Amino acid sequence: MTAEIIDGIAVAAELTARIHGQVEQLAAAVRLKPTLAVVLVGENPSSQVYVSSKARKAKAIGIAAVDHRLPASTAESDLLALIRKLNADPAVHGILVQLPLPDHIATTTVLEAIDPAKDVDGFHPVNVGLLGIGDVERAFVPCTPLGCLLLLRDRFDDLTGMNALIIGRSTIVGRPMAQLLVRESCTVTIAHSKTADLEGRCRQADIVVAAVGRPDFVRGSWIKPGATVIDVGINRVTRADGANVLTGDVAFAEVAAVAGAVTPVPGGVGPMTIACLLANTVTSACRHAGLAPPRWAVPARKPASIQGAAAVA
Ligand code: GUN
Repeated sequence: MTAEIIDGIAVAAELTARIHGQVEQLAAAVRLKPTLAVVLVGENPSSQVYVSSKARKAKAIGIAAVDHRLPASTAESDLLALIRKLNADPAVHGILVQLPLPDHIATTTVLEAIDPAKDVDGFHPVNVGLLGIGDVERAFVPCTPLGCLLLLRDRFDDLTGMNALIIGRSTIVGRPMAQLLVRESCTVTIAHSKTADLEGRCRQADIVVAAVGRPDFVRGSWIKPGATVIDVGINRVTRADGANVLTGDVAFAEVAAVAGAVTPVPGGVGPMTIACLLANTVTSACRHAGLAPPRWAVPARKPASIQGAAAVA
């Protein structure tokens, strides 16, 4: 069997076009320009690329992206002062502090300083908690897992009863991914470096989300025939011929020979992450203006939320 290659670029383009439409409506109806503040501390080359890409894609659809680039030596107190200023600025709807931060800055202190109502990354404990109770109407959902979910929902109308294995327990991907899939009525396992019989568990999974940060970690022999495999890895490796390339956490050719569908790297999850950041920024702008935010995805079929019929934002 040869897997379908999930085209993240196409799905992200379709979502971005819908976001663009909303941005134009906001401009025409209430003269509102969604505005995202992007904060980068230091010169991490990957972070510089991500931040530039986020700002470029935002501007391309009429979202204002205001860059704040600070030297690696910036004191934590100065970064916190900038965040307080952005929190208080009514023209700013979204604040993103690119991670990782330099070692002398406490990441949790910084993330907790961001106004939860402007936390378009969804990393503030208030948003983590709202996602934990399934209240995605009020939460900001972290962009990478939201992008993975939208790719899955593009392929399946209903994920109810599917076995999902998430490899990686990070707060950026693994944990929020689990919350989203539980809400879709999947049976969810979070695997990590201490998991016993990872391969055996993987062979039971209808959905595998790989977010471990290790190139070619998930092998073809681990995959249940027909499963859907979402590769969140972005690993920079040097090939035998000396070329520097990006590769995922999944041994792509092996997995594609067994799976029903698989995301490529690049061109899978990455474009969805950025599209979801733009979606969250427009959601925030609407909430700040007292308008009902758009629904970016069809509602979950059987919401597991104790709040009732919340939709995936
Ligand atoms: N670094 C890696 N992924 C992310 C992300 O989704 N948001 C931010 N702010 N930093 C990151």
